[in-house]
Amino acid sequence: MDHFLYRDGLLHAEDVAIQDIAEQVGTPFYVYSTATLIRHFKLFDEALDGLDHLVCFAMKAASNQAILKTLGNLGAGMDVVSGGEYLRARAAGVPRERIVFSGVGKTRSEMHQALQGGVRQFNIESEPELHLLNEVALSLGRTAPITIRVNPDVDAKTHAKIATGKSENKFGIPISRARDVYAQAAQLKGLDIVGIDVHIGSQLTELEPFVAAYRKLAELTKTLRSDGHNIRRLDLGGGLGIPYTRSNEAPPLPTDYGAMVKRELGHLGCEIEIEPGRLIAGNAGLLVSSVIYVKSGEDREFLILDAAMNDLVRPAMYDAHHDIVPVIEPAAGTEQAVYDIVGPVCESGDTFAKGRHLVAQQQGDLVAFRSAGAYGAVMSSEYNTRPLIPEVLVNGDQFAVIRARPSYDDIINRDSLPDWL
Ligand code: LLP
Repeated sequence: MDHFLYRDGLLHAEDVAIQDIAEQVGTPFYVYSTATLIRHFKLFDEALDGLDHLVCFAMKAASNQAILKTLGNLGAGMDVVSGGEYLRARAAGVPRERIVFSGVGKTRSEMHQALQGGVRQFNIESEPELHLLNEVALSLGRTAPITIRVNPDVDAKTHAKIATGKSENKFGIPISRARDVYAQAAQLKGLDIVGIDVHIGSQLTELEPFVAAYRKLAELTKTLRSDGHNIRRLDLGGGLGIPYTRSNEAPPLPTDYGAMVKRELGHLGCEIEIEPGRLIAGNAGLLVSSVIYVKSGEDREFLILDAAMNDLVRPAMYDAHHDIVPVIEPAAGTEQAVYDIVGPVCESGDTFAKGRHLVAQQQGDLVAFRSAGAYGAVMSSEYNTRPLIPEVLVNGDQFAVIRARPSYDDIINRDSLPDWL
């Protein structure tokens, strides 16, 4: 459930009409609902009630500090994957002891930065990383808390580009090698083994792949304990999917997921961490755009929007579906037109939807992309020298711009010319 509903014929974000934001901010823009963010965080938090747990928002999904602060104020931790995300989480006031550092390619300087600043744990993904972190920790006179991410070789049954738990993927160490790598880690004086980490992919729409992975994790916990390791924390990753269409999708709810976690892992007495991104932010955000032209092609109508693939890359990159709805509610029974919905960028991949049914549109009409709160603004670029679009946060009847649209000068002045030109 989200808080983007029609009221008096106009699409609202909570108590604010989208049209009012568009008038003040201009299009295109992203808009997020505070109530939806809070609701989704609490669903997870409550689903794990009774277990010692921490919900770490995977901030790669949506990293604006206003979003991080909204969640951080509720007690959320953050899952970060770069030095930039680490600093951003800290800037948003997230306490160091709630920041988990993930990622397959952490650099020496990122390790240095997080050890100096303080971190809950590093999730280690390879042997060379283990040794480098040990070296950096020793050089600072610190001990780095770690889990090792294991790759359970489980099919997450999701889009190939976002599946991470099969042996062919670059992530984690093969679970068959875990005992050996934990034994190595235990010898390294700069490291403190606190637990095990697993993450098998994103946009999972069934619980079964999680169950398969978590059973292997439970088994491994027992084995490693019997080897003498003090396994006290399990990081279960993120990945629970969301419905992208209103009609037929019904992925499991956080309550189902929480019950499954308790059933599969509760008896181990470990602290549980989860790293949801999409489920917290996805349906908490819209991308709002306006129609530049309605263009007739040979055999189809094109709806050319002012948003493009550089603003929301998911359809071009993963053939992802986003529902696209008019901002003015159509009267019941209004006839629909069929459009290819595209942006202005100079490549055919800049297509949001083909053969999409939508009430007839005219120049200047506003449309909203649903489920755009996760992996939307964070994946945008300035391709075609198109400025990054603003982000707006709504809270009840208030809204605020949480990232302003840069001017063309801001963009152009970032270039510098060499002496010889
Ligand atoms: N933890 C780790 C280690 C991850 O790699 C990810 C996502 C998450 C947690 C959060 O997963 P979530 O709960 O959001 O599914 N750009 C793609 C999704 C990439 C996901 C990458 N890793 C998309 O737009 O679909």
